Amino acid sequence: MEAKIKENRKDEVVPIFIMGKRYEVPASLTIQKAMEHAGYQLIRGCGCRGGICGACGTVYRFPGTYKIEVGLACQTVVQPNMYLTQIPFFPATKSAYDIEKIKPTIETLVKNYPELLRCLQCNTCTKSCPMEIEVMDYMAAAMRGDIERLAELSFDCVMCGLCTSRCPAEICQYNIAILGRRLYAKYVALKAEHVASMVKEIEKGRYEQMLRQLMDTDEETLKTLYNEWEIEPEQGVEDWVPKEKTYL
Ligand code: SF4
Ligand code: SF4
Ligand code: FES
Repeated sequence: MEAKIKENRKDEVVPIFIMGKRYEVPASLTIQKAMEHAGYQLIRGCGCRGGICGACGTVYRFPGTYKIEVGLACQTVVQPNMYLTQIPFFPATKSAYDIEKIKPTIETLVKNYPELLRCLQCNTCTKSCPMEIEVMDYMAAAMRGDIERLAELSFDCVMCGLCTSRCPAEICQYNIAILGRRLYAKYVALKAEHVASMVKEIEKGRYEQMLRQLMDTDEETLKTLYNEWEIEPEQGVEDWVPKEKTYL
């Protein structure tokens, strides 16, 4: 039954309103594809097309309801009579800092973003987030100076700016969050020793000769090397190592 509904929806055409103008578009399209179907050429507000870059923040409403809905245009399928517009850019506050010279403290957060303390805990940002992030909660963590919680709760943020567009306290939540994640990565998170030792090896030039050889290799040989490359099994064995260990 479900397959049949999906099949029908493929041929169905629905009315949508893009910036107030009515279009009829196939019901199976995402907002992004529907806009292109309607003739829009997306130069801004379109990046990865895969829900990662956050460029395609979109707001919409349906007639007869007060509720503002949000979504990423590349991830949200059109619905009949949605009135939509994209918010590909919303002016943000953005502090400049040298990560080497700041500390993972509440003072750092407040010095860079004093408006942080204007947060009313109204929860509008959480309701505006297409990634279903608890934005208000990460803001509360920021106000407490809890860098770890701020980083953890904001980890999936794609910086679409929809929360910022609706905040009554005029706060740019996602830039505060990225400062939190940078502080966390630099000063709080445990360091991976194997990464540090690998960086040292790279700096010592261990891979230079191999890279030069690859750069001098013809395309066909490169394809063969690529296709014959040993790949870690999907159901990874924890202590798996490739047979070829020259550069490990
Ligand atoms: S919308 Fe603004 S004021 Fe409201 S909880 Fe979020 S950050 Fe705070
Ligand atoms: S926290 Fe804000 S900027 Fe980040 S994904 Fe959610 S709405 Fe977009
Ligand atoms: S285009 Fe990148 S998230 Fe939609």
